Amino acid sequence: MERLSKVLAHAGVASRRKAEELIANGHVKVNGAMINAQGMKISSADVVEVDGIPISKENKVYFLFYKPRGVITSVSDELGRKTVMDFFVHVKERIYPIGRLDWDTSGVLLLTNDGEFAHQMMHPSHEIEKVYAAKVEGLANKENLRPLTKGVKIDGIKMCPARYEIIQVDSTRKISVVRLTIHEGRNHQVKKMFSAVGLPVQKLRREVYGGLDVKGLRPGEYRALNKKEINLLKS
Ligand code: URA
Repeated sequence: MERLSKVLAHAGVASRRKAEELIANGHVKVNGAMINAQGMKISSADVVEVDGIPISKENKVYFLFYKPRGVITSVSDELGRKTVMDFFVHVKERIYPIGRLDWDTSGVLLLTNDGEFAHQMMHPSHEIEKVYAAKVEGLANKENLRPLTKGVKIDGIKMCPARYEIIQVDSTRKISVVRLTIHEGRNHQVKKMFSAVGLPVQKLRREVYGGLDVKGLRPGEYRALNKKEINLLKS
């Protein structure tokens, strides 16, 4: 027996918290009866519907995608632009991206149909480490990057201290490449952090997410995570 909200999250319907909202707002039926109290426990024999549609008990799948630039991290786009889902047309499970990368950012993006897992990965308390390689305008040095290691303010909120490594400084072209490691995941965070220290980002790539990189993949390719990788992330 498992809690209804957990079953909904596992089925990829929504995060556990959102699933609780769905229950409270009367969207969920069990064996034909509307449920709006939390805490109900159900077994695999029970039929669960959300807005009249039975939830699927599909297998959990986990993919590592090398997101190319010029692609939106979204399951659909009203304007018909290319989304990450266009690369997964042959995957029958109802997967979606864990977090997001900007349209012009490339690199590691995980996709899954495991709502509970996705929720855990995105929760700030889990501090999943993300490593970005940023090509920035200007000459990076210890002085101008120091605020990043103390925690710069973005939109009035102080970020956690980040680690950096200067990869390249081209004084002729006045550009630098800096590797930045963070474990938060705010919108446009890396671009905003570099802007805050006067080094606007020209190009951004996520090299590592939770210890996983795009080794062996070309932009637009993906692979399934193996059991060991999934268990490592879950732990
Ligand atoms: N930070 C950004 O600014 N953009 C991304 O796509 C990811 C992190």
